[in-house]
Amino acid sequence: MRLTSVLITGGGGQLASDLEERLTAHSVRVHAPSRLELDVTDDAAVRAALDESGAGIVFNCAAFHNLDICEQDEDRSFEVNARAVKRLAVRCTESGTKLVHMSTNYVFDGSAPEPYGEDDLPRPRSIYAISKLAGEHCALAYANDALVVRTGGLYGLHGSASKGGNFISRLLRRAADQGEVKMVADQRLSPTYTADLANALIEAVETEASGLLHLTAAGECSWYEFARAILDFAGVDVPVEPTETVIPPGGVDRPLNGVLRNGRAEMLGLAPLRPWDEALADYMRAAELSAARAG
Ligand SMILES: NC(=O)c1ccc[n+]([C@@H]2O[C@H](COP(=O)([O-])OP(=O)(O)OC[C@H]3O[C@@H](n4cnc5c(N)ncnc54)[C@H](OP(=O)(O)O)[C@@H]3O)[C@@H](O)[C@H]2O)c1
Repeated sequence: MRLTSVLITGGGGQLASDLEERLTAHSVRVHAPSRLELDVTDDAAVRAALDESGAGIVFNCAAFHNLDICEQDEDRSFEVNARAVKRLAVRCTESGTKLVHMSTNYVFDGSAPEPYGEDDLPRPRSIYAISKLAGEHCALAYANDALVVRTGGLYGLHGSASKGGNFISRLLRRAADQGEVKMVADQRLSPTYTADLANALIEAVETEASGLLHLTAAGECSWYEFARAILDFAGVDVPVEPTETVIPPGGVDRPLNGVLRNGRAEMLGLAPLRPWDEALADYMRAAELSAARAG
């Protein structure tokens, strides 16, 4: 499928920003309104944006995804992450627009010993995750040929505003403020650079992929190992204490195994994303956080 005109919701977010940058570099006409410019829960505004942009594809990067806040605000979670997706999917079908919808590794409970494939049964264990799984079903059921992409552990140069920057900037701030860091060593993930994910999404659309697709960086690590690697790349000599996950009463479950197998991407012949540590090194240089930048 040739990309000529694209609408990206959640403009200004980390993935949306990298997608916008890459698509623009490919001479694609991109409209990427922020939440204030296009609230995906406003059906009339979504319909108008589709009409006015004449987009052949919508990348739905909008999400309400602060885990703790989602747990407190179920209605908003389902409104943004599910009900708005259902209406967007209907509008896409009406206007003949392809929908690419972003979802999460958190749809799995993380109890399996192996990485999760597209065929594994989701068992979401938080309001965020349940609402995202509902959103997946809405996209697949209401939009023709929708592509639903699950990913995880995103970081990018345009840090997630709703989370106060990305994990990397928050970790470096904490290390500087506290002189030590504690990090869970029993939760595993594949940290994924949004610049790499943006390229993979574009390739997936060009190959006409639809249905469910897992896309994450190659390899995996614990949050402890991720934190250690970030501090090492930054040349920050601060001890990191590995800890075990403890969910306080009323706290939110985070999957211990958050690693996705990118089996379908391989089957479709899509280029695998780089190993997570290679991508991280690149990000640290691009963000001017790498101790090696002067060398
Ligand atoms: N971040 C991760 O680690 C991660 C992991 C797995 C999956 N994902 C999924 O990947 C996608 C992109 O995530 P990201 O990390 O790029 O998130 P992000 O940087 O926080 O971007 C999300 C954007 O959505 C906007 N938004 C929130 N509510 C909206 C609404 N009602 N209408 C329009 N826009 C709205 C936010 O605006 P405001 O900031 O102004 O609210 C923000 O700009 C999401 O679907 C997310 O669920 C993310």
